[in-house]
Amino acid sequence: MLNVEWLKQQFQTHFSKQPQVIVRAPGRINLIGEHTDYNQGLVLPMAINRYVWMAGSSRSDHRIIAHSFDFQNQAEFSLENNIPARSGMWIEYIAGIANSFIQQGFAIQGADIFFAGEVPIGAGLSSSAALEMATARMLSALWNIPWHGPTMAKLGQQAENQWVGVNCGIMDQMISACGKSNHALFLDCKDLVMLQVPFPSSIAVVVLDTSTRRDLSQSNYNTRREECLETAQKCKVLSLRELSIAQFEHLRPNLSDVLQKRGRHVISENQRVLEAVEALRSNDPIMLGKLLNQSHQSLRDDFEVCNDALNTMAIQAQQLGCYGARMTGAGFGGCCIALVEAAQAESFVEQVHQQYAQATGLTPKIYICHSVNGAEKLT
Ligand code: GLA
Repeated sequence: MLNVEWLKQQFQTHFSKQPQVIVRAPGRINLIGEHTDYNQGLVLPMAINRYVWMAGSSRSDHRIIAHSFDFQNQAEFSLENNIPARSGMWIEYIAGIANSFIQQGFAIQGADIFFAGEVPIGAGLSSSAALEMATARMLSALWNIPWHGPTMAKLGQQAENQWVGVNCGIMDQMISACGKSNHALFLDCKDLVMLQVPFPSSIAVVVLDTSTRRDLSQSNYNTRREECLETAQKCKVLSLRELSIAQFEHLRPNLSDVLQKRGRHVISENQRVLEAVEALRSNDPIMLGKLLNQSHQSLRDDFEVCNDALNTMAIQAQQLGCYGARMTGAGFGGCCIALVEAAQAESFVEQVHQQYAQATGLTPKIYICHSVNGAEKLT
């Protein structure tokens, strides 16, 4: 795990001076509410104790010079030349945030930046949102811009949509900016009304990385978005969020098979999020687990975003006596989560590791996680 002292040293090595500010922003899991955010729906993510850490100092010119520890390279751009052509590199997340800040009218100047990440890349744990929110936290701190989580999350989403070119929803940036330790975030993506829901320390959140990967920009993610929009249009509503299960049942016969499935997933998933919040409030992990299992089934059969590895992992976990397990994030590869009685987490991890490796020939990476605060300034 990374820490402040190490970041200070690294920054000193690369820039021959001390950093002024150190920040970090977390990755996330989503307990439930998948592919609902861009349908104006409900989500229940949790920020996890895996961060992008960043050290920085202001510069008197307009250059941003950034060094990535994980990629072992350095890149830069000038804020004056309206930032560079798209390179497809990690620097675009930083440039995208800088660009969103400028568009928003925030007065920023140059900065020297060093960063390193603990969020596995491309695993569905939102390493990109963590980098965006760490950058936003850094620029806010260096240039005295008041930190307001939802505003920063929107700037992050804008950077990702318009700059990086991924048409994501708002969930990942919101949880990386607004997470709270020992809580999951119940978020209504229609109006960004949020509620922190206490999450019991007796339940471990186990992240099960299948070691299969997807690339969001090349995946079917955008196709799913379009299908959802088309379903809403055919049902004559602005978004699928507007429909209850009963209303959708009534409209369903007018839709193609595929659109029926896509709509059914989103609408039933919104309902499951409400029930999951209720299960947490009434301290009912068994109910919560059942909802996770149902969510996985719906994502597998109706939304069709699970590869074989995700299905194998989820089913094995479910059979090993956890409360519930499902894929998390966009899908098409990446991670599952399982909710496990904390005292049994270690032995659960061992068993699932062994069974998954045996069944697939892949080596999974498994992390026992807990919920943490969103983006924060450490020094
Ligand atoms: C990705 C996107 C999110 C959300 C999830 C699916 O993580 O970035 O906005 O759509 O997929 O729930």
